[in-house]
Amino acid sequence: MSPDVPHRRQLVLVMVGLPARGKTYTARKLARYLNWRGYATRVFNVGNYRRRDVGAQKPANFFDPKNPAGLEARTRVAMEALDDLLAWMAQGGLVGIYDATNSTRARRELVLARLEAAGLRVVFVESVCNDTSVIEANIRGTKLRSPDYKGVDPDEAVADFRRRIAFYEDAYEPLEDPDLSWVKIVDLGRQVVVNRIQGYLPSRLVYFLMNLHTVERRIWLTRHGQSLANVAGCLGGDSGLSPLGERYAARLGEFLAERAGDERVPVWTSTLRRTIQTASALHLPSSPWRALDEIDAGKCDGLTYDEFHRRYPDDFASRKADKLRFRYPRGESYQDVVRRVEPVIVEIERQRRPLMIVAHQAVLRALYGYFLDKAPESVPHLDVPLHTVIELTPHAYGASERRFFLGPSVEHEPSWNEASSS
Ligand code: SIN
Repeated sequence: MSPDVPHRRQLVLVMVGLPARGKTYTARKLARYLNWRGYATRVFNVGNYRRRDVGAQKPANFFDPKNPAGLEARTRVAMEALDDLLAWMAQGGLVGIYDATNSTRARRELVLARLEAAGLRVVFVESVCNDTSVIEANIRGTKLRSPDYKGVDPDEAVADFRRRIAFYEDAYEPLEDPDLSWVKIVDLGRQVVVNRIQGYLPSRLVYFLMNLHTVERRIWLTRHGQSLANVAGCLGGDSGLSPLGERYAARLGEFLAERAGDERVPVWTSTLRRTIQTASALHLPSSPWRALDEIDAGKCDGLTYDEFHRRYPDDFASRKADKLRFRYPRGESYQDVVRRVEPVIVEIERQRRPLMIVAHQAVLRALYGYFLDKAPESVPHLDVPLHTVIELTPHAYGASERRFFLGPSVEHEPSWNEASSS
């Protein structure tokens, strides 16, 4: 998939921050978001190079800036990761993310000089956290599971990690340089400070970062109940629900009441009748989003699969060859849908409460592809069946998923089902 906005200069995001400040969390989120949007992005994590080259279980004093052997080894692995990032960018990567502490001015200058010599645009992303409860949760939630502390008593591991942090604190120099391009995220977005951020992509990334948080909540994705167009096997349209679809809507209401308990769950729908009708059975306030409308099938709207094949054989063949990029004449492609739902993704990221989204197959494939970090090419083929709720719980490095088939069963959907049944 190609990026939505022409990309003039390759970009490197250089993470900055003390250990356990959420740098890797942020780096991975950025990579997932960018890859989903079609910007080939890769994270180069210096900790992984260190574990591979000098071993995982290094005592805290390995990170003491006054330990010459430790410093030499840490600089070596940091430069190896940077070499690999540069090699990857030379092969056409669009965004490289250099995930390391980069906690001193000298280290940042070294990294910057090498990246600029390669003609790359650089933005520093500093993660600052003063909230000790967040740091503690991060140490216990992610660091104790790292290979660095495999088999180590948890209290001992926490104490060692705190000593490691203290060594970094001794040498830490926050980002202040007014001539550099940087964004500083304080306490998980409570405050975001930007300096010399220019251009579409860096600005968009700042907006994305401003909406991130780590509060765990569930997101339920479901298609509308079976529609009359589904029954007829027709693409698109704006029909209401079939009797089976109405039964699904009623079951969805029971399902949500049981799963969400007393929580008042906001419900988002598209502006099409079949999602609004499905959501009305939930008896909760719902908001219709045009951005959640189904893929626009253009001049094929209302056709059956066979009619589409007979009337537009060339389009039919193009769609078969490349479902991601195929654009219905005077309509949309899956790529277009991904671009259209991007603001919805940022808005979902911002939500701290559980959320129910009642939408359509192509649109839900795009949303699901983002949360499960699916390759863009796979998005048009993801399995999002009728009468099934997908429960997602985003967490530090991804999302977990449960599926609930609520029934009633529907007949096999036509093979172009991303639009016909949606
Ligand atoms: C590490 O070795 O875990 C981190 C290296 C660094 O970026 O300081």
